[in-house]
Amino acid sequence: MSAIQKIKGFADLFPEDARCFTHMEATAREVFSRFGFGELRTPVLERTELFAKGIGEDTDVVGKEMYTFVDRGERSLTLRPEATAGVLRAAIEAGGIEQGRATRYYTFGPMFRYERPQKGRMRQFHQINAELIGSPEPQADVEVILMLEDFLSSLGIQDLCFELNSLGCRECRPAYRSALTSYFEALDHEKLCEDCRRRMHTNPLRVLDCKVPACKALVADAPIIGEHTCAGCRDHFTAVLALVDKAGLKYTLNPRLVRGLDYYQRTTFEVTSGAIGAQTAVAGGGRYDGLVQLLGGPDAPGVGFACGMERLAMLMEKPEAPQPDFFLAVTDPRAIDTAILLAHKLRARALSGECDYTSGSMKSRLRHAGRIKAKKCYIIGADEFESGQVTVKDMDDGEQLKLDIAAFD
Ligand code: HAM
Repeated sequence: MSAIQKIKGFADLFPEDARCFTHMEATAREVFSRFGFGELRTPVLERTELFAKGIGEDTDVVGKEMYTFVDRGERSLTLRPEATAGVLRAAIEAGGIEQGRATRYYTFGPMFRYERPQKGRMRQFHQINAELIGSPEPQADVEVILMLEDFLSSLGIQDLCFELNSLGCRECRPAYRSALTSYFEALDHEKLCEDCRRRMHTNPLRVLDCKVPACKALVADAPIIGEHTCAGCRDHFTAVLALVDKAGLKYTLNPRLVRGLDYYQRTTFEVTSGAIGAQTAVAGGGRYDGLVQLLGGPDAPGVGFACGMERLAMLMEKPEAPQPDFFLAVTDPRAIDTAILLAHKLRARALSGECDYTSGSMKSRLRHAGRIKAKKCYIIGADEFESGQVTVKDMDDGEQLKLDIAAFD
């Protein structure tokens, strides 16, 4: 009978990779708390309407990629495809969003999107997410961007490109939408995919981030939002760029950066790397004024970002496994209890290590102790068992001595 395998697009994280994730989380905690952000953990499962409303029905994420099912209580539920909607839902529900006051949350965890898996693109992936809710000021956008930069450089990741754009607001977006619709109407729009033929009328911005190659080719010369933004948006973006310049952050303006979620307004950004294959975005975010209200909360603006942990892991140096203080090998079956109790005493002295009572040869056990870089190898064989002693071998200089086990009491 063949063994059961994991689901396509889902991954197991063994210690080497899990250490990378733990390191990213610890670094995020450290950096984000310096910016006054607190950790918020939200459920992986939410009501489907939260994402349909928040992310937008016409987005690929909602239209094609969600893991949605009806539960035993006949409710339509969805595994979160991103964190922002859930974070805002939680903050609104807890009454944590007050007008005129900024609230800062970060969150980590698995997200789920039914995309075609490839290098750097998973169906279950992990994000590190941060939201600054309540500040309309351009300085809030910059603070969030600087926090992201601080985090990425604390991980030692280099050669990243920050791309910035402004997507306009409720005031100026309608003119841009009509310009886009006219552009698509004038084209041979029969070549667009079925979704985009609909979206060019209902939500033409979404045609711009369609992943279908034929659509990608047709949007190459589409009008850009920058030609349609209102004075308020232009001033906001100018202030963002001026402060980013003052802070010394290098960036590229990308007038074609639209992001794949409907909630963005004004500043949007992505951080890309040329070193991870076709999926170049390691982080993305922006301002989402109007979203809190759309989800039933007060009229509070917000700005945030999320990093893809799998993609960051590809760019990071893998942290070394912690070096164990001891490796305790038992070569006489009578000594197993003694060894377990000795290891327990060593651990009570804050030493770490494993107790090996397998039946392998001493040579292979010592090889293993070397491989895991144990500082000392403790051995209890027949002689030691009978004399109530343990042999301790220093793995650095090979020096060996015998100690009374009772001395560890
Ligand atoms: P997003 O651009 O959809 O934004 O995702 C953020 C990051 O998650 C991407 O840049 C990428 O690194 C990673 N990611 C997305 N999908 C996958 C996947 N299938 N496999 C591996 N990694 C993936 C958001 O999710 C927004 N909620 C970000 C945000 C927070 N905006 C404001 N606040």
